[in-house]
Amino acid sequence: MTETPARPPAGQPVPELFGWEFATDPYPAYAWLREHAPVHRTTLPSGVEAWLVTRYADARQALADGRLSKDPAHHAGPAHAKGRTGIPGERKAELMTHLLNIDPPDHTRLRRLVSKAFTPRRVAEFAPRVQELTDRLIEGFMEKGEADLIHDFAFPLPIYAICDLLGVPREDQDDFRDWAGMMIRHGGGPRGGVARSVKKMRGYLAELIHRKREELTDGPVPGEDLISGLIRASDHGEHLTENEAAAMAFILLFAGFETTVNLIGNGTYALLTHPGQRRRLQESLAAGRTDLLETGLEELLRYDGPVELATWRYATEPLSVGGQDIAPGDPVLVVLAAADRDPARFEDPDTLDLSRRDNQHLGYGHGIHYCLGAPLARLEGRAALGTLLTRLPDLRLAGDSADLRWRGGLIMRGLRTLPVEFTP
Ligand code: HEM
Repeated sequence: MTETPARPPAGQPVPELFGWEFATDPYPAYAWLREHAPVHRTTLPSGVEAWLVTRYADARQALADGRLSKDPAHHAGPAHAKGRTGIPGERKAELMTHLLNIDPPDHTRLRRLVSKAFTPRRVAEFAPRVQELTDRLIEGFMEKGEADLIHDFAFPLPIYAICDLLGVPREDQDDFRDWAGMMIRHGGGPRGGVARSVKKMRGYLAELIHRKREELTDGPVPGEDLISGLIRASDHGEHLTENEAAAMAFILLFAGFETTVNLIGNGTYALLTHPGQRRRLQESLAAGRTDLLETGLEELLRYDGPVELATWRYATEPLSVGGQDIAPGDPVLVVLAAADRDPARFEDPDTLDLSRRDNQHLGYGHGIHYCLGAPLARLEGRAALGTLLTRLPDLRLAGDSADLRWRGGLIMRGLRTLPVEFTP
């Protein structure tokens, strides 16, 4: 099969991708790609070449296509340019075997094991704790009349929530907050501080897993946390090595952390810049209703979700996506943010409509890698946005929204800071 890379129409330059303006508002560029070059070969800032898939129908198909592997070993590029999920430190062999880097049958086995431990019941039982955390964080800045919602609220909430879920003792959770802070501030680069933080986190998790395994064998009271659940699941005939357990804990932390920070950050920002929609939501919450909060949370994910591009996929054989031939070894990046604004799938896609019903967005992915933590993300999102709007009814942006800076990363989309003010 000959490869025929999509070419933009003559005389029409491809809009600049990955620059500063693009980081602030990538949607016009994505609209252009959807229309003119829906499966587009580009050079990423790292120098790696990859295909961007931007239409909804193609994106959905690609996410569920078994010929697109998650295993970076399938990447045809030079070793130094191998694609990654964007998770700092993941090249360390011990943390590589996680769900987002593997295919069936290993993926099926590990996903089944973690699903046994990460049950909807465990998540539902967690609701009071998430509410308590949300209230405590808001009370921490409520008297001041101002806050940076990323630093003071969106960032700590998911880290403490995941630590609790995993079973990290409370006295150690501030260490996690520091390590995670280092990683989110410096992104996936191999800088010293990040590498040190990953190393500390890895060491801590390995020790915690070891300790919990011993507690489960010797101790009188088996833990109810997720790590204990993982160990127990592995003890029922199926195999989960300590490395796999550590990689699992690590991916839960990573997949569930920056995503939720951005859900709260991007979601609050969208509400504060759409006063009519925000008023409707506030009125419905004041009337004791939660239906608009529920549809609204899905709409915020569609409109400006935390995951801009799904994590890396690699063609294992020649295939065609949206009529474009793709060669084995080529990386394929599915642009969730572009697919979720596709006018062929969503009516008025650039309009935020919190009551949108026909809303099968791809914000949590699709297919076998569909977000495992979606119930937890929804729980945290509902608590965070619902409580913010209820307890700080006149919440508003402090300063000009044009001054806000977006984090420039490939996979995630989120604000660096979100300064707000309100009546104390
Ligand atoms: C996978 C989005 C929160 C755990 C994914 C994927 C997306 C996603 C798009 C699929 C990636 C791909 O196919 O390349 C989100 C969003 C979240 C969120 C938007 C917040 C609003 C969470 C939370 C957790 C979590 C809270 C857990 C604590 C995972 C895991 C996977 C995953 C483990 C990999 C599943 C697999 O490969 O089988 N998430 N996520 N996520 N997510 Fe989430």
